[in-house]
Amino acid sequence: MTKVLALMAVVAASLSVNVQAFEVEGKYKQACAACHAMGVAGAPKAFDAAAWKPRLDKGMDTLVASVTNGLGAMPPRGLCMDCTADQYKALINHMSAAK
Ligand code: HEC
Repeated sequence: MTKVLALMAVVAASLSVNVQAFEVEGKYKQACAACHAMGVAGAPKAFDAAAWKPRLDKGMDTLVASVTNGLGAMPPRGLCMDCTADQYKALINHMSAAK
């Protein structure tokens, strides 16, 4: 019984680590920065609020759909194969805010 409880604690601990593993700055650098850091191929430049304004005006749901399906030179999923819609939202909020 103690062993089972200990095992469950280990499983629970590793699950919570997985949930916290999404870190917006790290994911931005890993996936989106390849194009958005420099504004490659017409990508709205990260942390340039003016570049993002017309994009944000489309509404967050539209933007999440654009990343998920791809848009113009942006490939589907924006190189983040395991991102959820909420994580895309966090990434978009991150990139569209002035730094
Ligand atoms: C291979 C290059 C590339 C990568 C990687 C990339 N993007 Fe993009 N992104 C673009 C380009 C180019 C556009 C402009 C598309 C257009 O308007 O034709 C764009 C546009 C966008 C838009 C605006 C969509 C709209 O409807 O106006 C959002 C939001 C976005 N990217 C989010 C992301 C996120 C989040 C990531 C990382 C998970 C990401 N992108 C990764 C190239 C990229």
